[in-house]
Amino acid sequence: MSASTDTPSPLQPPDIVRRNLQFSFDDVERHWFAGDCHRTRLFDALSLFFPEGERFFIESVKHYRPRLPARGLLSAQVDDFIAQEAYHSREHRRYKAWLESQGIDTQRLDAATAQRLDQLRDTTRPSQRLAITICLEHFTAILADQVLRNDRLLAGAHPQMRRLWRWHALEETEHKAVAFDVYEAALGRHWRSWLLRCVSMLSVTMYFCGFAWLHLIHFVRRDGQSSKLRGWLGLLRYMFVTPGPFLRVLPAWLAWFKPGFHPWQHDNQALIEQARREDGLATV
Ligand SMILES: [Fe+2]
Ligand SMILES: [Fe+2]
Repeated sequence: MSASTDTPSPLQPPDIVRRNLQFSFDDVERHWFAGDCHRTRLFDALSLFFPEGERFFIESVKHYRPRLPARGLLSAQVDDFIAQEAYHSREHRRYKAWLESQGIDTQRLDAATAQRLDQLRDTTRPSQRLAITICLEHFTAILADQVLRNDRLLAGAHPQMRRLWRWHALEETEHKAVAFDVYEAALGRHWRSWLLRCVSMLSVTMYFCGFAWLHLIHFVRRDGQSSKLRGWLGLLRYMFVTPGPFLRVLPAWLAWFKPGFHPWQHDNQALIEQARREDGLATV
């Protein structure tokens, strides 16, 4: 690994701020998103990935930490990335405990995610695990962009839940290129590293979407609303039409496959500034 790979970002990256926030779910109603079961459970289902998932991201990036120039910018960014992800993982673990208290068997779903990640730990090389990590980081970053960009995405949500998701979205945006920069520093920027991240993105997308739907169906069934067609149609409309975040991320998802792609080629630093200002998240 060469020192020249220390700052490959095409623009000055933003500060990665460590915010040790803690959230209480005591006053949050079960269907916290405008009383809409299906919409609430979509976010709940996504949340369940984070405790195990972010632990996996931290391990994957940490593996390469000793190989980075000790006093370089990227080393410092890796430390901030790890701190942010550790706080996210901790808060989503509390979120999970709250879901458990609602009678949802999160342990079984969580165990399935953990089992899949353990399989990856046993059967893949560190470079492949880092490739999986950067794909999932891109996934979270493009959804985070939607959360920060489009106010309608969380309109009607309980204020505490809105704050939690916007906090997470802000920090995912701040550190969106860190794992990617470690990947390019470790593997280089050539056709083999490009191919690995492209193939990884296809399989990661398939698994992530599959698992997310399984979680969602489980949650909605537990609420006794799995046969409510109107609820499912409303959710599909929310996801793909208005505000439609899962359709709107498509160009950013496709951009991943361009040779020479870098997360900061999509410059959304203005959204970071806006969220820091409007959500009172400049520093903590
Ligand atoms: Fe995170
Ligand atoms: Fe992240």
